[in-house]
Amino acid sequence: MLTIVGPGRIGRALARLAADQEVEACLLGRGEPMEDGAGPIVVCTRADDVAAVIDACPRPDDLVFVQNGALLPWLRERGLAEATQGQLWFAVPGIDASPQAGAESVLVGRHAPGLAYLLGRAGLPARVLPGFEALPNEVATKLLWLSVFGVLGDLHQETVLASVARRDDVTALVAELVPVCAAALGATLDVDATVARLCAYSIAVGSWRAGMKEWRWRDGWLQAAALRHALATPLHDAGCVRLAAPCSTPAL
Ligand SMILES: NC(=O)c1ccc[n+]([C@@H]2O[C@H](COP(=O)([O-])OP(=O)(O)OC[C@H]3O[C@@H](n4cnc5c(N)ncnc54)[C@H](OP(=O)(O)O)[C@@H]3O)[C@@H](O)[C@H]2O)c1
Repeated sequence: MLTIVGPGRIGRALARLAADQEVEACLLGRGEPMEDGAGPIVVCTRADDVAAVIDACPRPDDLVFVQNGALLPWLRERGLAEATQGQLWFAVPGIDASPQAGAESVLVGRHAPGLAYLLGRAGLPARVLPGFEALPNEVATKLLWLSVFGVLGDLHQETVLASVARRDDVTALVAELVPVCAAALGATLDVDATVARLCAYSIAVGSWRAGMKEWRWRDGWLQAAALRHALATPLHDAGCVRLAAPCSTPAL
């Protein structure tokens, strides 16, 4: 049985596509207990709520994490480095909205094949990574998309499709954040290939309005990691400062 924790946008979308495929699934809200037994437990809460789900879980080996942001180091600290993890490259803009396919999602871990199959049959392409060593690049790529298009979206109050036209800004932000992801996550990303991948996704989910969210796991995590590794990220810093408290920092 498929257990889904968190009846929000992603959780409800997964529950719907399981029902469409006649896969037995159970969608749990706050305070509803997870059952012993077998099968994946897909955690579809925001990153800040993940710790509570882990603490309440009777079988942590079955947990599946699909959160955006840099959870990977934190999951390692919690002893969950080899739990099933995924980076979802589709967008669910609202409760009960249809998922908008954007790019191929990636999953790794014991429940990855089953979940990739479920997504694929629903028209959301997904593949299984060859091993956990491939995960840092995938986490870093999605993190860069969230951060770069989030900062640009908030600064210019525009959709991700509109931000694609600011290719120089996208490239400059990616170029200064790639070394941070290398130092802090061990990711080995090529700047031009990453820019191309991020822009292709933004074109695919064009009407999405990205913004700075979940500070601790995204832009705040990047800022702290840059500081820790003595890496300069002036454009990203300027964007964050302007959004937190408008001032006279250079425009992006
Ligand atoms: N939406 C997307 O397009 C998208 C795409 C890729 C990845 N993601 C990732 O997927 C995750 C979920 O995103 P979302 O957009 O679905 O968020 P969301 O709409 O905010 O839904 C989160 C849900 O989790 C529930 N929840 C929180 N703590 C819980 C707990 N302890 N037990 C059970 N339920 C709990 C929340 O309930 P309350 O309402 O009571 O807080 C809410 O219903 C995020 O980490 C996000 O980064 C989202």
